[in-house]
Amino acid sequence: MPTTRQVTLASRPQTVVVPENFAMQEAVTPDLGEGDVLVRHIYMSVDPYMRGLMGGGVAYAAGFEIGQPLFGRVIGEVAQSRNADYREGDFVYGMLDWADWSVAKGGESLRKVDSARAPLSYYLGTLGFPGLTAYVGMMLIGEPKPGETVFVSAASGAVGQVAGQLARIAGARVVGSAGSDEKVRFITGECGFHDGFNYRITPSVLEALRLHCSDGIDVDFENVGGETLDAVLAHANPFARIAVCGMISQYNLAEPYHLKHVNEVVSKRLNMRGFVVRDHAHLIEQFIDETAGHIADGTMAVAEDMMFGLENSPAAFIGMLAGENFGKRVIKVGDDPNWN
Ligand SMILES: NC(=O)c1ccc[n+]([C@@H]2O[C@H](COP(=O)([O-])OP(=O)(O)OC[C@H]3O[C@@H](n4cnc5c(N)ncnc54)[C@H](OP(=O)(O)O)[C@@H]3O)[C@@H](O)[C@H]2O)c1
Repeated sequence: MPTTRQVTLASRPQTVVVPENFAMQEAVTPDLGEGDVLVRHIYMSVDPYMRGLMGGGVAYAAGFEIGQPLFGRVIGEVAQSRNADYREGDFVYGMLDWADWSVAKGGESLRKVDSARAPLSYYLGTLGFPGLTAYVGMMLIGEPKPGETVFVSAASGAVGQVAGQLARIAGARVVGSAGSDEKVRFITGECGFHDGFNYRITPSVLEALRLHCSDGIDVDFENVGGETLDAVLAHANPFARIAVCGMISQYNLAEPYHLKHVNEVVSKRLNMRGFVVRDHAHLIEQFIDETAGHIADGTMAVAEDMMFGLENSPAAFIGMLAGENFGKRVIKVGDDPNWN
């Protein structure tokens, strides 16, 4: 069996994640039991929820164990199989270790992906759980109508770019915020948002919303929390829907931001609903079928931010949390036979 490198959790971050929180080790992949599959990893995803799994700070209950490999979404190729459902050469998606190789149980833990339909890495972004997250929050909770104003924060990111484009396809007027002028040009250009602003150079997010969403906000797709959510509450129209997807501005803080406009939820009868994508995992194949068509016919743009090498995965993760990524950040850790 092959020797593999694995990225492990060396320590829990206190607030901001630092390189010293990670370590690299070597291990021999175990022999395959009945039903097992040996996977050669090709692409790995780094996602904001992993900050919570690391523990420390204001993060949620820890999920990663000290001294053990981190794990997340991986696309790989089956190298050996003792499972009748998977053959050598199949491309698969699974929750696997941050590693070059791993042994997966078949069944629910793996899913085949079709390299003929889209680049393999897209199954970690627009055609993966970030895309499905956007679909659930925007279409099942936000329910944008033609003529309504929709606001999306972290709008150029993995989830945000899809959320905004779904609202645009539904006929709404879409406004996004992002952390650089280049990101704003991407959402208002290729993604077809109607307007956008760079929140990093805006003295006040509330003033920016008054300027760019002059008819108020009917649907908010909330990725950021903190001051951004507070401004949305202040500027939302009565009966607005707020799909609370995430609060990335809060994940590294020792002390969370305190909302000043939370009373508006009552006075404006806002419908504010949080959600977690894994509750909707059964929709993934249907979502891929619909969205692959949007990508193929040019209705939906995709921005992907690729880094290379397993050894760079801690830096890729730390950089994503800080907003270095332009689009869905993935790490290419192995050879992709379809790469061109
Ligand atoms: N509910 C669910 O099931 C679910 C599933 C997936 C993701 N999420 C949430 O969705 C959000 C986006 O995740 P993603 O995977 O699409 O990541 P992403 O947007 O591709 O990457 C994270 C982005 O967050 C932005 N950001 C970081 N710190 C910020 C701050 N202090 N203020 C404003 N923006 C900040 C940065 O973009 P800028 O340059 O624009 O600042 C960064 O590029 C996160 O909150 C995540 O937790 C929720």
